Amino acid sequence: MQGQALPGFRDFYPDDLALRNAIFATWREVARRYGFQEYDGPPLEPLELYTGKSGEEIVQQLYAFEDKGGRKVALRPEMTPTLARMVGARAQALKKPIRWFAIPQLFRYERQQRGRLREHFQLNMDIIGEAGPAADAELIAAAIDTMRAFEFGPADVHARISDRRVLRTLLLGGGLTEAQLPTAFEVIDKSERVPEEALAEILEKAGIGKREAGSVFEVASFRSLDAVSAALAKVKGGEDAGESLRTTVAALGTMGLGEFVSVDLTIVRGLAYYTGIVFELFDRGKELRAICGGGRYDNLIKEIAGIDLPCVGFGMGDVVLGELLRERQKAFEAPGQLDAFLVAVGGEDVAPVLTLAAGLRNRGIAVEYALRNQPIRKQLELAAARGASRAVIIGPDERKAKVAVVRDLKTGKQHKVALTKVRKGVFK
Ligand code: HAM
Repeated sequence: MQGQALPGFRDFYPDDLALRNAIFATWREVARRYGFQEYDGPPLEPLELYTGKSGEEIVQQLYAFEDKGGRKVALRPEMTPTLARMVGARAQALKKPIRWFAIPQLFRYERQQRGRLREHFQLNMDIIGEAGPAADAELIAAAIDTMRAFEFGPADVHARISDRRVLRTLLLGGGLTEAQLPTAFEVIDKSERVPEEALAEILEKAGIGKREAGSVFEVASFRSLDAVSAALAKVKGGEDAGESLRTTVAALGTMGLGEFVSVDLTIVRGLAYYTGIVFELFDRGKELRAICGGGRYDNLIKEIAGIDLPCVGFGMGDVVLGELLRERQKAFEAPGQLDAFLVAVGGEDVAPVLTLAAGLRNRGIAVEYALRNQPIRKQLELAAARGASRAVIIGPDERKAKVAVVRDLKTGKQHKVALTKVRKGVFK
């Protein structure tokens, strides 16, 4: 049987596409409210755009190959490097701060599981050219507001916020060296999913002593701004390192979103390029992977395009979100969009029905008719299956009297309407 999509790839039947379109429409609406402009880039990119910049995990998952011209290419696994290249190329001309959003389809060769596929669509919102925490707060607010637009409240979803500068400062203060930080980040990132003994082993292998390992676990245990501030107060540079996180959390409170937000230092993010605030949105049930993830990445444009521009942004996938929406909402149905189904009584009525259909469609009215001669009963059956609200029936008697029979397909009631009116799309 050749009738199956590849594992991790989806067929979008009309009802599935209705859900996808509803998600995209809400994403676009929230992006509009925040003043973001939509952009897009190519789905196929030079391989080197990702190697060395996105981090090992994503590079392992690339769909990469050599094209017929011998170029090493990859299907985009994320949008951020493309955005960095595009902005880098026109950096002088663009008015900062840039607020751009995109809805790319992305490809990662992942182990398929619930909420994790090999292709997904992702809302990306990014602010470029603003280094201060107001931009971080703005983006986290946009991510939360997107969830609110889907009618999720603080009892359903929450944002967990951390800051890599805070993590760095606390870990260096706890005796770790700069070279040990990546391992410490990895352990903190895994601390909720992997038992402590296994994590201790990773630390030990990286040459991190018992006392320093203790500070890694302590940092991973902080779940509030107060706890983080108290720990920062004890280390050199702590006050400065926590400033951005404090301001961001305060701004979200001022915007009325405090209930959605918690400070949680276990959020590190897998991608290598983050430099400051990092955050993820989860469902409160915590059954699924993150709905959304993002953060500040101030060095990526410099690495890709040689231009110094601070950035902050997030990606929100359609897969986890779709699962949550399906769990709580009625099935999404492809909208039935027919204004009328035109019925020809006999062969002689087919040409007048075609003329009428063409005229109505020119006026923007949605109509369909049977594509072969059929008994009226069959045609009405098809009309009902299409969800048309009315059938417009044309037969020899009607043509002679210059009328059409308009039948309400819900009530079954019908009445005659002058053809001059019907041609204008007036069915009463
Ligand atoms: P990410 O955390 O890799 O970040 O992906 C963001 C979101 O996309 C995830 O939270 C998840 O909902 C969804 N997602 C990722 N991979 C899959 C998958 N295999 N199947 C289903 N959904 C998936 C990034 O991609 C960053 N580039 C986001 C960003 C934009 N950071 C700054 N600007």
